[in-house]
Amino acid sequence: MDRLIQALRAAGEPTRLRILVMLEGGSELTVTEICRILGQSQPRVSRHLKLLCDAGLLARQAEGTSAYYRHARSPFARSFLAGLDPLITDDAAGTIARDQAQLTAIRAERAELAARSFERIALEEEVLRGRAVNQPAVETAMVALAAEHPIDRLLDIGTGTGRVLELFAPHVRAGVGVELSREMLNLARTRLEANHLDHCSVRYGNAYHLDVEMGSVGLAVLHHVLHFLDEPARAVEQAARSVWAGGRLLIVDFAPHHLEALRTEHGHRRLGFTDAEVVHWCTAAGMASVTVNHITLPHPGPDSLTVTVWVATQAADAPTVRSLEVA
Ligand SMILES: C[S@@+](CC[C@H](N)C(=O)[O-])C[C@H]1O[C@@H](n2cnc3c(N)ncnc32)[C@H](O)[C@@H]1O
Repeated sequence: MDRLIQALRAAGEPTRLRILVMLEGGSELTVTEICRILGQSQPRVSRHLKLLCDAGLLARQAEGTSAYYRHARSPFARSFLAGLDPLITDDAAGTIARDQAQLTAIRAERAELAARSFERIALEEEVLRGRAVNQPAVETAMVALAAEHPIDRLLDIGTGTGRVLELFAPHVRAGVGVELSREMLNLARTRLEANHLDHCSVRYGNAYHLDVEMGSVGLAVLHHVLHFLDEPARAVEQAARSVWAGGRLLIVDFAPHHLEALRTEHGHRRLGFTDAEVVHWCTAAGMASVTVNHITLPHPGPDSLTVTVWVATQAADAPTVRSLEVA
């Protein structure tokens, strides 16, 4: 009763109602963007946002010095917010349409920024994945995991442009990508919004200090992240910690290779990993077993790379927190 009354009070005000409606469909906006849409000052809008967060209707995701706001994902918030849209009456429709037009303009600006970054990154991806590795076969091997075991919660560590979230989206109930780079987060957000993947989100996060509850995900993924890290074992340990009993840790990375250009021109810290070292990191992190799959191009050339897919299974006695009651 108390929760419902607090939510009704929070939603029962014109500006807050506009905020709730503009964030429909999985949109994530900064306070600056919301101020721009509403045409109101930041202190005022921040107060409204705080009330909506306190009432459990919005979630705030800090990202460096700014923060993104979106609809909360608890079952209560979902059913409460789903009831609002059909109730918008004609006299409110003009204001909502104006907000929507502003939101479309903000999305277009973000998409333009993302497109410019994509161009640059796509070039690198073409070199790394299109020509040098058999990426279609790698992705087939990855999603085969989901076919074996449906996935409740996915955590994609170092999500980059969000490709792994997009790949697994049809097979998961909820997906979260964490990433250090703001530019990448912008790209991933644009990708998720363009594909209407409301059940997936991204946020700032560091592979070395995962802000994720122990045993709270069914599948954690490190896809082409370890070769950038100074301490890959630490990232594996953190990822393993997040996986619940019987859940999986999926690591995809290069087998040992000699393409020095990846170090000198692409910032790779390591030129691939042996099976023995990755299996050792997984078992040292408490995982029960690890399977290994090597994937090559059908007709490898001198610069082709082998990609290894390691799948570690979490020990049966590991902590398990299956609640999806997350903000
Ligand atoms: C080659 S990209 C791979 C992106 C994505 N996993 C994919 O395969 O499409 C590596 C990503 O890891 C991110 N990254 C590097 N160090 C990180 C860290 N300590 N924590 C989180 N992300 C990190 C980089 O910013 C980059 O986006």
